[in-house]
Amino acid sequence: MKEVSERERDLPSTIIEKLTRIAAENKETLSLSIGEPDFNLPRPLVRELKKIVRKHKQNNLNHYTSGQGIPELREAIARKLHKENKIKVSADEVLVTAGSQQALFAGFLSALDPGEEVILSNPGYLGYIPAIELVNGVPSYVPLKEEEKFVINPDLIKKAVTKKTRIILLNTPSNPTGTVLSKKILEEIADIAVDKDLFVFSDEAYEKLIYDGKKHISIGCFNGMKDYVLTFHTFSKSYALCGFRLGYAAGQQKMIDAMEKSTHYMSLCAPHVSQLLGVKALTLHPKYIEKMRKEYDQRRIFIVKRLNEMGLPTVKPEGAFYTFSNISEYNKNSFAFANALLKTEKVAVVPGTEFGSEGEGYIRLSYATEYAKIEKAMHRLERFLKKH
Ligand SMILES: Cc1ncc(COP(=O)(O)O)c(C=O)c1O
Repeated sequence: MKEVSERERDLPSTIIEKLTRIAAENKETLSLSIGEPDFNLPRPLVRELKKIVRKHKQNNLNHYTSGQGIPELREAIARKLHKENKIKVSADEVLVTAGSQQALFAGFLSALDPGEEVILSNPGYLGYIPAIELVNGVPSYVPLKEEEKFVINPDLIKKAVTKKTRIILLNTPSNPTGTVLSKKILEEIADIAVDKDLFVFSDEAYEKLIYDGKKHISIGCFNGMKDYVLTFHTFSKSYALCGFRLGYAAGQQKMIDAMEKSTHYMSLCAPHVSQLLGVKALTLHPKYIEKMRKEYDQRRIFIVKRLNEMGLPTVKPEGAFYTFSNISEYNKNSFAFANALLKTEKVAVVPGTEFGSEGEGYIRLSYATEYAKIEKAMHRLERFLKKH
C-alpha cells in the first residue's frame, strides 16, 4: 500500500497533544501544559449563543458564509482594530478564519514561494515552523536569551536577512516566554522591514493578557506600515472561545485577497455560528476580560515566586499565561525532565525543545489552570527537585 506523503511523515506530532491525552485519562495528573483558558464562556456570550441558535433559520445558521467572513463581523473587527490597536483598515481588508492558526497558514501560503525565508524567534510558538515548512518555506531563527528577558534583538534580525527573506514573524505577548515587545523594539523592526522591503506578520493572540501596567502595541499602527504588516488576532484567548475556532487577519488588500483564496480551499469559511457570536464578543463589556486577566495575574505572581524559590530561574512574564523556566541545573535535557516529572509526580509540563532548539534546558508551564491545582503542582515539582 502507498505510504503517506513524505511531507506528512516529516510533520512533527506535538507533545502537547499527547500530554493533554495523558492528563485527561489520568485524573491524578495535574496539567500545566495546556495553552487554553480554563474559564467558561462569559455569560453574555452564552445568552447570545442561545439567541443565535433559537433564531437559526433567520440566521441561516446551517449555511456557508462568504469565504472572507460575514460583513457585520468584518466591520466590527475593523472598528475594534481602529479603536484598540490604532490600525486603520476597512472591512474589506479583514479576513475571518477558523482560528488564527488558519490565518497564519494562509499568510505563509500567500507570501512565500518555495525556498523563501521567514525570520522568527527561537524559542517561539510551536505552530509556526511546521506551517512554514508545509508551504516549502524556510525558517530562519533568531535566538532569544534568558539574560535579555527573551526580548528579540533587532540587530540579529537585521543580520538574518538574506535575498530570500520575505517575512519577519513577531509574536507579542509571546508564547512560550510571555515577553511583551516595547514600542522602541517594534520601531526598530519596522525600520528593518521597510528598509529591506519585507512583510511583518504580527501575531497578537494574547493582546489582552498583559500585566504590570504594560501596554500592548501593534506594529501595524505605525505610520507607513500598512503595506508591510499583516496583523493576526484570535478570539481563542481573550474571550475563552478556543473551541469556536475564530480568528482573523488584517492588512493590505492584495494579501487579504490572496489569503481569502487559499482559506477557501481549506475550510470554505469560518463556522457561521462562531462568526455571529464573534460580533457580540467584540462588544463584550471589558469587565469580563478584566476578571480573567486579574485571575491569571494572581496565578502568575504566585507561580513565578514559587519557581524561583525552588531553584528554577524564571523570568517574570509580562503577558500571555506561560512561564519559561530554566531547569538546566537539574537536567540539561528538557524532554527527559518533563518525562520524569510526569512519571514520578504526575505533573505535565511542556519540554522547552517543543518551541525550538534554544528551548533546551527549559520547560514551559501554563497558568491557565486553577490556582489550587497550580499550588499542588508546585508542591509536587518541589518534591521532585529535592530528589534530583
Ligand atoms: C502565539 C499563538 N498564535 C496562534 C495560536 C493559534 O490560536 P487559534 O488558532 O486558536 O486562534 C496560538 C495558540 O495557542 C498561539 O499560542
